[in-house]
Amino acid sequence: METGLGARNGPIEKSFIDPQTGKKMVQKGDILFPPRKVWMKTFGCQMNYHDTERILFHLKDLNFSKTEDREDADLILFNTCAIRDLSNLKFYSQLGEAKHNKKKKKDLVVGVGGCVAQTEGKELIKKFKHLDFAFGTDVIDSINDMVYRTYAGESKFKVNAWDRSDNFSIETKITHGSPQAFVNIIKGCNKYCSYCIVPYTRGKEKSRRLSEVVEDVKKLVRYQGIQEITLLGQNVNSYGKENGESLAKLIMELEKIGGLELIRYTTSHPYDVSDELIKAHGLSKKLSNHLHLPVQSGSNAVLQRMLREYTAEHFLGLCAKLRKSNPNIVLSTDIIVGFPNETDKEYQATLDLLDKAQFDFIYSYTFSARAGTKAAVMEDFLTNEVRKKRLHNLQKYQLGIQEKIRRGLVGKTMRVLVDGTSNMKGIKKWKGRTNCNRIIHFIPELPESNYQWHWVDLKITSTTPLSCNGDLVQDYGRIPQRIYE
Ligand code: SAH
Ligand code: SF4
Ligand code: F3S
Repeated sequence: METGLGARNGPIEKSFIDPQTGKKMVQKGDILFPPRKVWMKTFGCQMNYHDTERILFHLKDLNFSKTEDREDADLILFNTCAIRDLSNLKFYSQLGEAKHNKKKKKDLVVGVGGCVAQTEGKELIKKFKHLDFAFGTDVIDSINDMVYRTYAGESKFKVNAWDRSDNFSIETKITHGSPQAFVNIIKGCNKYCSYCIVPYTRGKEKSRRLSEVVEDVKKLVRYQGIQEITLLGQNVNSYGKENGESLAKLIMELEKIGGLELIRYTTSHPYDVSDELIKAHGLSKKLSNHLHLPVQSGSNAVLQRMLREYTAEHFLGLCAKLRKSNPNIVLSTDIIVGFPNETDKEYQATLDLLDKAQFDFIYSYTFSARAGTKAAVMEDFLTNEVRKKRLHNLQKYQLGIQEKIRRGLVGKTMRVLVDGTSNMKGIKKWKGRTNCNRIIHFIPELPESNYQWHWVDLKITSTTPLSCNGDLVQDYGRIPQRIYE
């Protein structure tokens, strides 16, 4: 039995076809599960989206299939995020709506998982009468046992224990048919940045063994047609420390897997970017030419208050080393504006850093106090108005930088894996991401052409600060091949 995201203690599911109806039925313990529908809403980071995929995978074994229509659901699940106030608020308003669904459908089951449930599960259960159960981030593999308990008549319970297994050992579960997959390699975070809730919602760092991840990815490539993987963790650069392994070693092993085209990883902490990893960015042919490296602030004083363990100079030194190792590398970052007591000068230092670092894109947020973190009780003279103004100004400033970077791309031909369509002013366009994570849109030669999951070469014709438009130069189809020689 797998360990690492909650041991399964309940009876095993057995499926059979009902001879009378011809429908699939599932027996778990003494309860029969007919085909049912689950509606699930996810908030937060890739980790949460990945967990949702895993939950849905398990629920299939209990005869639940996914529905996009909430009214149609027998089970409503929320996978929550606690990173900023706004993420919490969005969840609370959705949870409120589920009350109406339950009024209409008495046997509807409602559950809440994820980062809010991990820390506030007990309170949620108490506060919201229509909520049946809450479960934390480290028990998602036992979702079927929880749902089973609700059908056995239990209600108002929470499961949010930390998994006690020595190793973090799981197999990637995917239900989608795309050639892209997330692969969780490390869970938790030991960093305790002063503003951040994640160490409290995701627990201590624990890595999967390198050999297990390699076998997992081999299977994904061989049996599920995966061509692109994103290695996932809150601090992926800490990977393998407890086992004498490392992210760089893992990448160089994954590199050898035939049929795997592209390796990405997220998210990095600058403190843990090793020379070995920087070297891997030069050596590996399959490692993405994009790296997301959150800096948070350009002021050393603020970085110190954030407990980030590096200086702006160290960060810029890393950018330079990475660009030397791989001249094609493209960098992006996260910024928090308005950390407690951030002065004008400290704010200005972040704008200076944006100038120097030349990021391809950024995610930026105003500081949001999270209960239980060190920053939440720091002295703070800033008003929310100042925070908002600074954020707006910073975003405008960065868009200016991006506009120049993107403009320089006109005339270049780049390869993308097409991942969908967009509709702009009534014109249907296909779109994909380059190896370096830039979005390029293109108009198909024939309106009815289907390019989904094709590898194509596009010649960039025009740009905006956020994306590019291109002309189709070559369509390689869906056939896996060595793309980035
Ligand atoms: N593990 C990653 C990402 C963590 S959360 C890392 O170490 O960078 C994603 C982003 O949310 C962070 O990079 C940070 O920019 C932002 N964030 C985290 N806590 C925040 C808070 N309390 N207020 C505002 N933004 C926050
Ligand atoms: Fe949060 Fe810092 Fe850990 Fe990232 S490294 S998840 S910002 S505590
Ligand atoms: Fe949010 Fe939890 Fe991710 S707090 S950002 S969902 S780890």
